[in-house]
Amino acid sequence: ADLTPFNTFGLRSRAENYVRIDDLAQLPALSDLAGRHGRLLVLGGGSNMVLPAEVDGLVAHMALRGVRLVEQRADAWIVEAAGGEVWHDFVQYCLAQGWDGLENLSLIPGTVGAAPVQNIGAYGVELDSRFEGLTAWDMATREWVRMDKADCRFAYRDSRFKHEAAGRWVIVAVRFALPRPWRPVLDYPDLQRHAGLAAAIAADAAAAAGASASADTPSGVPTTAQAGVTASAIAAAVCDIRRAKLPDPARIGNAGSFFKNPIVDAAQRDALAARHSGLVSYPQPDGRYKLAAGWLIDQCGWKGKSLGPAGVHERQALVLVNRGGAQAADILALAGAIQADVQARFGVALEAEPVVV
Ligand code: EPU
Repeated sequence: ADLTPFNTFGLRSRAENYVRIDDLAQLPALSDLAGRHGRLLVLGGGSNMVLPAEVDGLVAHMALRGVRLVEQRADAWIVEAAGGEVWHDFVQYCLAQGWDGLENLSLIPGTVGAAPVQNIGAYGVELDSRFEGLTAWDMATREWVRMDKADCRFAYRDSRFKHEAAGRWVIVAVRFALPRPWRPVLDYPDLQRHAGLAAAIAADAAAAAGASASADTPSGVPTTAQAGVTASAIAAAVCDIRRAKLPDPARIGNAGSFFKNPIVDAAQRDALAARHSGLVSYPQPDGRYKLAAGWLIDQCGWKGKSLGPAGVHERQALVLVNRGGAQAADILALAGAIQADVQARFGVALEAEPVVV
């Protein structure tokens, strides 16, 4: 099967053996099939992968569909979605039902089943903060397993699924806990700057000030509920910001951020900040600092540049793009050149974010 249309990078790739999974009943037989072919690669939206020209073994394309409200708890909506659901469509469906909480994760390419693998995150929210559990088929023990948050060992763009025997678990369904009451997450500077949200944020602040004033004075004028920040408004703002900055994979092949933002200790961050006044860094709960890899790459002059058919996006240096006809080797050659430059100039090692098959 031709996998070129099934990876958002648009890398030319073929699978020796391919099966589409659209029924849970297929899973037990998949163990036997994968056993015969040597190894298994589960493909979702193909949005976080660098596929080689030839994929050996068996490729299982996850196409299970379905979304349902599992439970309406006092503290959360528990919603379950099948692994093959398109992530953004799922987010929009939840918002339409009033199950708010995933709005900051709007427009992330890929599927629901792939989301826990790299613990997707954007604009101040990571998947693990909305995660309840998942169901997977264990290829090794040939049984269904349920995992909770601790089982998945989530970290920044990381989970156990990136480390343990690739292809051991096929994630068929993910359960989300969407906190009630809903609270907006607006810490990310790009959101606060967004014109559509700024007015709503100001209205909320004014309403809050009015509420506390009338609480102090029992005879105070009752405040009318202001239409402030809504989940849909945040979703719309996130879509705007992403469209302005990130290339649309339907038009130009890419896999989102190609590198993780590196985390360094405070001493290293201070030393770098002393030499580079514009250094972008964010303090972490453990006292270390996350550096903006896009800034480091940008400083090395790579933004908008190319190496063969592989390029660095013009508006976000953290995103590598396929300028046409690139193969995995082209992307990896460019990635290697960038890593070498960032290492030489800043003494910081960049780690690739997508799964390199
Ligand atoms: N910057 C530059 N030059 C660039 C790119 C960025 O100077 O070419 C600077 C920006 O000015 C900004 C800072 O770097 O001050 C951070 O940039 P941005 O807000 O675009 O976010 P990021 O850290 O580069 C991360 C995620 C994105 C996510 C955004 C928003 C990673 C690896 N990437 O990018 O996730 O959308 O934050 O939360 O953590 C993805 O994983 O595929 C992805 C797109």
